Amino acid sequence: MGEKTMAKTVLITGAASEIGQEILSVFLNRNYKIIATEISSEMASLKEMIKHEEGRVKTFVLDLENDEDITAFTKSVLANYPIHDLVNVAGINILRNFFEWTADDLRKVMNINWVGTFLLSKAVAENMILHSIKGSITTISSQHAVAANKERVPYCVSKAGLVQLTKVLGLELAPYKIRANCVSPTFVLTEKNKHLLYSNQFLDQELTKIPLGSYAEPKDVANAVEFLSSDSSSMITGHNLIVDGGWTIQ
Ligand SMILES: NC(=O)c1ccc[n+]([C@@H]2O[C@H](COP(=O)([O-])OP(=O)(O)OC[C@H]3O[C@@H](n4cnc5c(N)ncnc54)[C@H](O)[C@@H]3O)[C@@H](O)[C@H]2O)c1
Repeated sequence: MGEKTMAKTVLITGAASEIGQEILSVFLNRNYKIIATEISSEMASLKEMIKHEEGRVKTFVLDLENDEDITAFTKSVLANYPIHDLVNVAGINILRNFFEWTADDLRKVMNINWVGTFLLSKAVAENMILHSIKGSITTISSQHAVAANKERVPYCVSKAGLVQLTKVLGLELAPYKIRANCVSPTFVLTEKNKHLLYSNQFLDQELTKIPLGSYAEPKDVANAVEFLSSDSSSMITGHNLIVDGGWTIQ
C-alpha cells in the first residue's frame, strides 16, 4: 500500500522486448517512474509502445556492447536520477556449433550479456549508494545458466556468469542494503520466437523437457521480477529464481 504512493524510479534495459514491456507494465502499475533504455534500432518501437505513458517513461539509447556508451549514459542520465531498482533485461543469443565460433562473436555475446550488465549494475549501485537508496538489482539470466544446451556456448557461459555475478553483488552490496537477484526463465514465448518454439524440432526436443508442459510467458518473468524487486522479498539476495516449469529439477 505504502509502496504505491512513493515515486520511485526503475531503470529497465532491453525495454522494447516483450519481456521488457511486461516488466515495464509491472512497474507502471506500481506507480514508478521509468527510465527505459534500448539500442538505437529499437528506439522507434519503444517510443511507440510507451506513447501513452510519456510523462512517466523516459527513453534513452544505451548500447551495452559499448563501454563508452555506458560511461556517457552514467554521466548524462544516471547523474540526474536517483535509481531505486534496476532490471537488466537486455541480452542476446546466437546459435552456433561449437567449432564455428569466432573470437569476435564470443566477445559480442559476452560483452552485451555479461560485461555490459556488470558495468551498468556497478554504475547503478554507485548511484543507489550516493542517494542512500536501499534498492534492488534484478537480472534476467536463463535456465541455460544452470542446464547446458547445444549451440549456445557463450549464451550459457554469460548467463551462468550473471548468476555468479549476482551472488557476489549480493555479498558486496549487502552492507548498503542493496539486494541483487536473478530470474532465470525457460524458453519464453514471444511473437519474435513463436515460429521457432512451435517448430516440430522444439516441440519434440525442448517442450518435452518442461514438466509443467508449456513454455513460459513474458508475464511469468515479470511476476518474478515484481516479487524480487518488492518488499515481499526483503530478506532475499544473491538468489537465482528459476522460472522453468521444472526443466532444471530433472
Ligand atoms: N525469450 C526467451 O526464450 C528467453 C529465455 C530465457 C531468458 N531470456 C532473456 O530475456 C531477455 C529478453 O529476451 P527476449 O527473448 O525478450 O529477446 P529480445 O531479443 O526480444 O530482447 C533482447 C533485448 O536486448 C536488447 N539488446 C540487444 N542488443 C543490445 C545491446 N547491445 N545493448 C543493449 N540492449 C541490447 C534488444 O534490443 C532487446 O530489447 C534476454 O536477456 C534473454 O536472454 C529470454
